[in-house]
Amino acid sequence: MDFFTTLQLRRAVKHYDNKATMPAQDFEKLMDSVLLSPTSYNIQNWRFVRISDKHKRLRLKQAAWGQQQVEDASEVLILCADSQAWSDRPERYWANTESSVQEMILPMIESFYTGKKQTQRDETMRSCGMAAQTLMLSAKALGYDSCPMIEFDNEQVANIINLPEHHVICMMIVIGKALKPANPRAGQLPVNEVLFENSF
Ligand SMILES: Cc1cc2nc3c(=O)[nH]c(=O)nc-3n(C[C@H](O)[C@H](O)[C@H](O)COP(=O)(O)O)c2cc1C
Repeated sequence: MDFFTTLQLRRAVKHYDNKATMPAQDFEKLMDSVLLSPTSYNIQNWRFVRISDKHKRLRLKQAAWGQQQVEDASEVLILCADSQAWSDRPERYWANTESSVQEMILPMIESFYTGKKQTQRDETMRSCGMAAQTLMLSAKALGYDSCPMIEFDNEQVANIINLPEHHVICMMIVIGKALKPANPRAGQLPVNEVLFENSF
């Protein structure tokens, strides 16, 4: 499928075939693709929790106020991020570069994030947003539909997935085979309402 067709066809789908499963090679392809998502200073701070356990799925559905797609979709991923990834052995993120590059970049990373709680938090959301779209477009290209989700009780989900300290939950994404297409687009803003030239 052509890229722009994939982009047009990706919609938030709510109804899934609960008998459909995703073959392992498709799941691998999805993960290989999502790991190509860009992150600031290449810190790769996203962490993905795949919910394969049926009992956990039901608990998640409950935490998501009964949204049926959580139970029926082939895959459910919780997109999380480590807000401290920038300080966790950052040399790994630049391992393939020359030492002169590492000597320049590593102190930059440290000074960019040290003591800046809001920036650390913002980075988790930026990275997961990028990863989410990569994931959903890759799923569409592979013949699946998806739905990004944030309508759930964050604390309950954190408890279900045993969210570690310094990690945050960004969103949930369900992926599967659609039973019903998405409703027509609800209302798109015209470009002149959202695009500004040089300043607001
Ligand atoms: C961050 C985020 C959270 C969302 N949370 C939910 C959700 O909890 N449940 C749901 O049914 N749809 C959810 N949606 C889907 C949006 O309603 C949908 O993306 C939007 O209406 C645009 O439709 P489209 O994705 O089909 O273009 C969410 C979308 C985003 C981006």
